[in-house]
Amino acid sequence: MIRAIYPGSFDPVTLGHLDIIGRAAKTVDELIVGVLNNGGKTPMFSIDERVSMLEEVTAGIPNIKVMSFSGLLVDFAKQTGATTIVRGLRAISDFEYELQMAQTNRKMYPLVDTMFLATSLEYSYLSSTIVKEVAFFGGDIREFVPESVVLKVQERVQPVIQKDKKSGQI
Ligand code: PNS
Repeated sequence: MIRAIYPGSFDPVTLGHLDIIGRAAKTVDELIVGVLNNGGKTPMFSIDERVSMLEEVTAGIPNIKVMSFSGLLVDFAKQTGATTIVRGLRAISDFEYELQMAQTNRKMYPLVDTMFLATSLEYSYLSSTIVKEVAFFGGDIREFVPESVVLKVQERVQPVIQKDKKSGQI
């Protein structure tokens, strides 16, 4: 019985995340999507909003549970009984940080191992940061995030775009 965690900020969830979630769910018995509640950062979406967006877009996958966590990922793994961490690798530039995280996590909690999935080619350029950047400048994000997330991001950036227009900045 393999219980795995796919951790991330998911601010917001992208089609790249969804690709990894779908493929990981096929290879493990239970997949917990762990949404980081990071007090140090100001996200676009609150932790509850991110969890509920993920629940909505993963509703069709039976062996998935979406949970928030704060603090160390290894402590969350201990609490949930997960022994595998899933991470997606988009490019070689991801590798150094991901390797460091995987090794640190295993040093802190030797029962946990990290499984890397190569991101599908069509999403190798994609990140939540890029999605927000495109949205802030009024670009089309329909190819980047699930349909139900498009409107939520647009609603969130609209007041900023309006404000910038008024002040003559765009
Ligand atoms: O995909 P993201 O948003 O970059 O996810 C990063 C995440 C959440 C996996 C990482 O920041 C994390 O695990 N944070 C929890 C704190 C922790 O355990 N840090 C030490 C890892 S070595």
